[in-house]
Amino acid sequence: MPTLSKMTCVEDFRVLARRRVPRMFYDYADSGSWTEGTYRSNEKDFQQLKFRQRVAVNIEHRSVRSTMLGAEVAMPVAIAPTGLTGMQHADGEILGAKAAERFGIPFTLSTMSICSIEDIAAHTTQPFWFQLYVMRDRDFIGRLIDRAKAARCSALMVTLDLQVLGQRHKDIKNGLSTPPKPTLLNLLNLATKPRWCLSMLGTSHRSFGNIVGHAKGVGDLSSLASWTAEQFDPSLSWDDLEWIKKRWGGKIILKGIMDAQDARRAVDAGADALIVSNHGGRQLDGAPSAISALPQIAQAVGRHIEVLMDGGIRSGQDILKAVALGAHGTLIGRSFLYALGAMGEAGVTRCLQLMANELDVSMAFCGRTRIQDVDRSILLNAGLYD
Ligand code: GLV
Repeated sequence: MPTLSKMTCVEDFRVLARRRVPRMFYDYADSGSWTEGTYRSNEKDFQQLKFRQRVAVNIEHRSVRSTMLGAEVAMPVAIAPTGLTGMQHADGEILGAKAAERFGIPFTLSTMSICSIEDIAAHTTQPFWFQLYVMRDRDFIGRLIDRAKAARCSALMVTLDLQVLGQRHKDIKNGLSTPPKPTLLNLLNLATKPRWCLSMLGTSHRSFGNIVGHAKGVGDLSSLASWTAEQFDPSLSWDDLEWIKKRWGGKIILKGIMDAQDARRAVDAGADALIVSNHGGRQLDGAPSAISALPQIAQAVGRHIEVLMDGGIRSGQDILKAVALGAHGTLIGRSFLYALGAMGEAGVTRCLQLMANELDVSMAFCGRTRIQDVDRSILLNAGLYD
């Protein structure tokens, strides 16, 4: 029986989540689009970067505390928005938000979450971030923005890279739906996940909480599936950001920037932060890894806007490398989901502790004492992706 203290790295959580989470939801999290080449390179390209070890520097007093969007954070990490999180573990978004709040980092709620904006607000005291997908039904989007405002969310994260959907083979093969359809295969798989089934019986959160009951014509889940496919808006353009910004009136983060030219547009659009992201390798397969796209974007706009990154972060060392290459902060999606699926809130807390410790100790090996002072000089081959 795995115990929390025996979990020592993200890979431990991944292996356990694979055992405990029904296959269609584990696969949903742990897959990329088409060949999954970009998904894999997100992780692999971190490994090409080499630290410069320094010795006999006084590293007694250290801190990995930083800021993200002007607020203090325990380390430069936020929880990324991930769809269907409440299917990795019952009430998953609530548990993730509580763990993030206790640890002192931001939590981002996805539009496609199971627990709603109001559910998260009711279970937390610190403001969280809300991620917005722009859909054709602009009335609905307007109301979502108003709900995030009423819940005192401190930033709106607009995702720009999901106007069309990259094909994930496993989701099609598994017949992904929420909740799972009672087919023989699904029932057989669920029979091997008693812990998950029991906890799901104990919650009322089993469908898309931000949408069902709020969007016209979405009364049940079968109509929702076709509604989502039809609703993601391929006409979304930079002009739309104007009214989104106006309606929201607060801090805006633009997610899905992979190109320096687009990064400049994000600055012109008046965003407070951008996220260098290829959607965890789930959208344009064949795009470069996020860490290799980061330096050019950070060099182009890092003085004008907060540059964040996600994609492939599985350890404190990955966070350190991203900061060295110009990320003001990072986001974790799968690392969070594996920990949540494996062990719920306690798993997420443990995972954050492990990452923070690895970040702190690795920074010390590089002869640095403050994460805010870390720069390219801690890497031997910092120019690799220039
Ligand atoms: C949605 O955000 C997805 O990547 O599935």
